[in-house]
Amino acid sequence: MESFRFSDKVNDIQPGIFAALNQKKEELLAQGRTVYNLSVGTPDFQPAGHIMRAMQEACGNPDNYKYALDDLPELVEAVRYRYQKRFQVELEKDEIMSVYGSQEGMAHIGLVFCNPGDTILVPNPGYPIFEMSGVMAGARIETYKIEEKNGYLPDLKNIPEELLERAKYMIVSYPLNPVCVCAPDEFYEELILFAKKNHIIILHDNAYSDIIFTRTQGRSFLSFDGAREVGVEFYSLSKSYNLTGARISFVVGNREIISRFKALRSQIDYGIFLPVQYAAIAALTGPDDFIETQRQEYAARNKALCGGLRQIGWNVPDSQGTMFVWAKIPEGYETSLSFCMELMDKTGLIVTPGSAFGSEGEGYVRMALVVNEEKIAELLRVLKESDIFQKDRL
Ligand SMILES: Cc1ncc(COP(=O)(O)O)c(C=O)c1O
Repeated sequence: MESFRFSDKVNDIQPGIFAALNQKKEELLAQGRTVYNLSVGTPDFQPAGHIMRAMQEACGNPDNYKYALDDLPELVEAVRYRYQKRFQVELEKDEIMSVYGSQEGMAHIGLVFCNPGDTILVPNPGYPIFEMSGVMAGARIETYKIEEKNGYLPDLKNIPEELLERAKYMIVSYPLNPVCVCAPDEFYEELILFAKKNHIIILHDNAYSDIIFTRTQGRSFLSFDGAREVGVEFYSLSKSYNLTGARISFVVGNREIISRFKALRSQIDYGIFLPVQYAAIAALTGPDDFIETQRQEYAARNKALCGGLRQIGWNVPDSQGTMFVWAKIPEGYETSLSFCMELMDKTGLIVTPGSAFGSEGEGYVRMALVVNEEKIAELLRVLKESDIFQKDRL
């Protein structure tokens, strides 16, 4: 039979870098080698007991297997409570909606704003779903430049006028995965003025507000004056509460955007599984001291890994936030992928090539802080014993 005719969108999807890394990892494991997998951002911490108990209890009630249809009123209240407590932001009920993780929410939100051919603005390098939000809607993806020398902040004054006229929305996210920097408050103040002046909607991804090392607490975009007039924030429970697999996050902010997004989703979704909603309520309203303990553990790992790498000759800056570290590849390697492959081969350390995050990520790698300090010490020993940082290794 003739081959099926698939859409251009599907045909454009490449197995990509992660498939190559995974294949190599499987090969190493088959050889009985030890691998240190710092390529994926899945926390190794456990969800708190009260969150798991709420989920378990809800799973025991047969009524909770029905279509949820909507967010439980208690869930919406729980988000209001959390935003007030954590960010001192007052939200109204119609400024809140759930999504199946920020990833899924982002994948669909482009459909709220874009007709095919419209333009969106995303950072380069940046987390891949930012771009995908536009791809799904058939939009034109334009990137804004962020450079190390400018603290990886966009130069808002120098985005070409022609681009500003076309852009429907701009995705902004700090602490930014993969470059691991935070933005100062003044940046957000400038961003909101910029958005108003140019009629560009801001979608702020706040996945790492609780994993920040430059101060003890991250902020919400919505805590800045005028923010909800120009956009919404994605607030994920995945990393703060170690609930990556539960798939629940929220979009909060501008009520008109929320109402349109809800209308769109009413056509494709019957609501989040009720036990997951109950777990989220427990997470948002329950004790939260573990978040600070966790933040301190990430900070200790950040220090141990970056400091340790510097000691053995790899000049890696400390991460300012996120659960990652962003490092320039050592001299003598041509591409971030070839470096990753050699690193994995020689040491068993798996990291993500920067090129997976856009063209400007080439020359860098991203490492996830998902192993404890003991393991970090072990992998540093393995790295030190290898010839990976010796320029004359070839
Ligand atoms: C910047 C960023 N946004 C969103 C996500 C996905 O979050 P969620 O689990 O809520 O879909 C991630 C996950 O790594 C991320 O790094």
